[in-house]
Amino acid sequence: MKITVIGTGYVGLVTGTCLAEVGNEVLCLDVDPTKIEILKAGGIPIYEPGLEDMVKRNVAAGRLFFTTDIEESVKFGQIQFIAVGTPPDEDGSADLQYVVAAARNIGRHMSEYRLVVDKSTVPVGTADKVKAALTEELAKRGAAIEFDVASNPEFLKEGAAVDDFMKPDRIVIGTESERATQLLRQLYAPFQRNHDRLTVMDVKSAELTKYAANAMLATRISFMNELAVLAERLGADIEQVRHGIGSDPRIGYHFLYAGCGYGGSCFPKDVQALRRTAQENGVPLRVLDAVEEANDAQKHILIDKLTARFGKDLKGKRFAMWGLAFKPNTDDMREAPSRTMLEALWAMGATVSAYDPAAMEETRRIYGERADLLLVDSPMDALKGADALLIVTEWKVFRSPNFDTMKALLKTPLIFDGRNLYEPQAMRGMGFDYLPIGRP
Ligand code: NAI
Repeated sequence: MKITVIGTGYVGLVTGTCLAEVGNEVLCLDVDPTKIEILKAGGIPIYEPGLEDMVKRNVAAGRLFFTTDIEESVKFGQIQFIAVGTPPDEDGSADLQYVVAAARNIGRHMSEYRLVVDKSTVPVGTADKVKAALTEELAKRGAAIEFDVASNPEFLKEGAAVDDFMKPDRIVIGTESERATQLLRQLYAPFQRNHDRLTVMDVKSAELTKYAANAMLATRISFMNELAVLAERLGADIEQVRHGIGSDPRIGYHFLYAGCGYGGSCFPKDVQALRRTAQENGVPLRVLDAVEEANDAQKHILIDKLTARFGKDLKGKRFAMWGLAFKPNTDDMREAPSRTMLEALWAMGATVSAYDPAAMEETRRIYGERADLLLVDSPMDALKGADALLIVTEWKVFRSPNFDTMKALLKTPLIFDGRNLYEPQAMRGMGFDYLPIGRP
């Protein structure tokens, strides 16, 4: 099949590449010429394990192409995926300007049937807006061309995106026409593996499913985070509680880890957008209000512990930070807890020496060169002369460090661990002052 993917970011590039991998011809469009130049030169503009090789393989095979030419992209694919960003508006609702712009472009240039698929995370009712934009553009030029609009939310996880796309738990499709359903069934047939993973539903339910999934996951995290604060106060251990409840199959072990807050390009904005939709429709989602409030507080928890030790005047102090990306295996820093912490430390006059295996360049892009930020080449380099270490992202490389070297490098052997990477007793046995989350 011939496919166009509009928006070549984390979702668009993975979608396009994986669809090419199974034999389709795919053209990826982006309005950002820098991204397309990098891709055309054989690189990839993001860090995503396994993606670069797959891109190269499919480009070499003549199945995967990149362009900034809108007209060419509309002509190319019978199926047009919209995978552009849907960032939060000032009031928290999803900003649909990029989605609508993409739809208008299709309406302006299409000359035969097109199936337009919303892959971006979009509020209920967006398919109708996309349809209206297409209809309007076609009417402007007096064209009567058939099209369908479908919803196909994406559930991939950054850091495991290629695997998630190639071996999905489920593929959710919201359609209004048999033609669209059949085309998407055919497109996704190679990803079904041993049983049917396709759930076909109405468009609104498909749109809501994506928000429901992310809101449920964010709720689990915020619940565990608040419970961790209580456990700490009571002298209980949240890690043991996690084991105790996770063994119940109704609860399960996933997404029960207490930490220093969730971030990323999805949970914060999707929780906000769903709350906004709820408010607009006069249905309070009180649970989600609390989920967001709890997360905002949790992003400060390491800083609260730190100021309890050092006070709020941190001039002349230097802190090491391990992990800048919002989670391991990505360079994505959107809404990352590290940013809340960096900015709080700087506001109190501290210097930070930081290391992340993938997000150093992204950090430089966001904050530029500044005297109070040292981006160093290794975890150990960050520790030299630091008054304490803050562990913010649970990259594998931080899990089993040389503790003797750490102790020798740190000015004081003090660790604020926002991801509970080590056993508290063992750490204390080695002479560390170790402050995890929710553990005695
Ligand atoms: P991104 O910001 O990495 O990529 C979006 C791309 O769209 C950018 O490269 C931008 O230049 C391009 N773009 C904007 N307007 C355009 C237009 N009119 N024509 C062509 N290109 C255009 O965003 P990301 O992370 O890929 O997210 C895209 C959507 O997918 C969002 O709605 C997000 O919520 C959703 N999503 C993201 C996931 C993730 O892990 N990043 C997972 C599941 C869904």
